[in-house]
Amino acid sequence: MSDLTTRDEGATPDHGHSAPEGVNPDDLARPLYEGPGALPAADIPHRPRRSDFDPKAARRAERQVSSLFLLSGLMVVLFIVAYIAISPQAEVYVPLFGVIGAQNFALGLTFGLAIFCIGAGAIQWAKKLMPDVEVVQERHPLASTPHEDVEAEEQYERGKEESGFAQYRTIRRTLITAMVLFPLPLIVLLRDLWSPRGGSLTASPSEFLSTTAWVEGMPIVTDGTYQKLRPEEIPVGGLVSALPEDINEIQEAEHNLNARGKAAIILVRMEPDEIRSQQGEGWDYQGILAYSKICTHVGCPIALYEHRTHHLLCPCHQSTFDLADAGNVIFGPAARRMPQLPIGVNEEGFLVAKAPFAEPVGPSFWERG
Ligand code: FES
Repeated sequence: MSDLTTRDEGATPDHGHSAPEGVNPDDLARPLYEGPGALPAADIPHRPRRSDFDPKAARRAERQVSSLFLLSGLMVVLFIVAYIAISPQAEVYVPLFGVIGAQNFALGLTFGLAIFCIGAGAIQWAKKLMPDVEVVQERHPLASTPHEDVEAEEQYERGKEESGFAQYRTIRRTLITAMVLFPLPLIVLLRDLWSPRGGSLTASPSEFLSTTAWVEGMPIVTDGTYQKLRPEEIPVGGLVSALPEDINEIQEAEHNLNARGKAAIILVRMEPDEIRSQQGEGWDYQGILAYSKICTHVGCPIALYEHRTHHLLCPCHQSTFDLADAGNVIFGPAARRMPQLPIGVNEEGFLVAKAPFAEPVGPSFWERG
């Protein structure tokens, strides 16, 4: 005999019968638990739901559930339409949020509603159509006997029967449709990983990450105060987060933070004789080295620098780079060294880039050489 016992075996759906004798249908919505001092759950009499004895209510519930699953599928289709039809540069005003990207807003809204509708449909199905009996399972040793395997199979069949998965064909089909469509947004978004798109993303990731705002002679400014830097302002052992001087104008023109993210660098200073190797001849200035701030693993910004060892530690997955040895990886999942920016000073004595980055910044991807 099964150790799964139901509290009220008579509570399985019994569509086509009237409300049980003595039960007022208007009382059916009242909660079972009345508050402190009420009967323990096991002693509370079971109250059937309206859909248990009213075929019309059951059909109404079936339509509600199916509609939610269909709506989920529709939202997925709208997600794909929004991804294709709305320009990444388009903006929309949304109360409370102000002016935001129209495509991001549409993608978030449709995908969120797709998830919500599947969840709401499942809850509605369980609340209104599946059996609402309480099931008690006794504790016992974990190993199953052949007898228990047979029982488990029987319980599975019983669950399938009682949940109505076989009975409610429309629900079953709409649920399967919703679940098949549900992963599509994730697949569609993968397109951005290998193909150019309109607007600011007019290049593949390889092209996009290969160019930054750094050009020859571009003054280096501090991140935050945007002050130009002189070499003597950086002490040995110090670290400064920095950007190209014109980063704010670029950001304003592009309406996004892409340029800022790609161009972020750190400057560290060590004694010149502590530098064991660099990515190019004379790319430091009197012991000051400039490296991309974006981790080559999956792109976290890094600024945890241990000046005695010259190790740069990424807080996300602990990749560690040796800045005294060309930024090479000495620990962690990153597969590539941190790109180095060649620097010098201009005629006014301010630190500047001597050339753009020689290799793409940011995380690895499959087109990278
Ligand atoms: S992002 Fe830096 S280690 Fe993963």
